[in-house]
Amino acid sequence: MTRPARPPDRVALIGFMGCGKTTVGRLLAARLGYAFLDLDQWLERRQGRSIRQIFQESGEEAFRDLESSALGELSSRRRVVIAAGGGAPLREANRGFFRQASTFYLEISFEEFLRRTASSPDRPLRGRPVEELARLFESRLPVYRELGEKVSSEGRAPTQVMQEILEKLRGRGHQPQP
Ligand code: S3P
Repeated sequence: MTRPARPPDRVALIGFMGCGKTTVGRLLAARLGYAFLDLDQWLERRQGRSIRQIFQESGEEAFRDLESSALGELSSRRRVVIAAGGGAPLREANRGFFRQASTFYLEISFEEFLRRTASSPDRPLRGRPVEELARLFESRLPVYRELGEKVSSEGRAPTQVMQEILEKLRGRGHQPQP
C-alpha cells in the first residue's frame, strides 16, 4: 500500500503584482489550517516602514537584500502559506526556497495586471513606464514557470483559484489536515 505523501511544510505563491497571492494565500491557509504570511507585510512590520518607504529611502537593492534574508529566515517554518512579493523569485539565491516549498504560480495577463493594479500607490514599481513594466513582466515569466505549478488567476475569483490549488495538492497525494 502506498502511503500518502507528507503534507508540504510550506506552500508558496508566486506571480506578478496583482495576481492575487495575498488574497488566495489567506484563503488557502485558512482551508489548510496553516499560518499565513505575506512576505511584504512581514518585512514592513519588521522594518517599521512601508515597502514604498524602503524603496525610497534605501533603494531597490536594499529591499531585495531584505527580501532574501527574510526568505532565509522562513526556510525552516512549517505549516505556513507564504505569499511572496512579485520579485522575490528572481534572485538565483532565493530560488532554493521556492524549489523546496510547494510553489504555485498564479498567472495573469499583462493587461489584467494593469487593470488590477491601476490604483496601487503602495507598489513602487507600478509607477514605471508601461513599456518598462511590459519588459519586466515578460522577463519574469520563465522564472515563475520554472519554479511554480501554474494556476490561472485570470478573471477568476480568489476562491476558485484556491480550490484549484487544493485539488493540485490532493493530486500530489498531499492531504493536509487542518
Ligand atoms: C514587487 C512586488 C511587490 C513588492 C515590491 C516589488 C515586484 O509585491 O514586493 O513592490 O518586484 O514585483 P506584490 O507582488 O505582492 O505586489
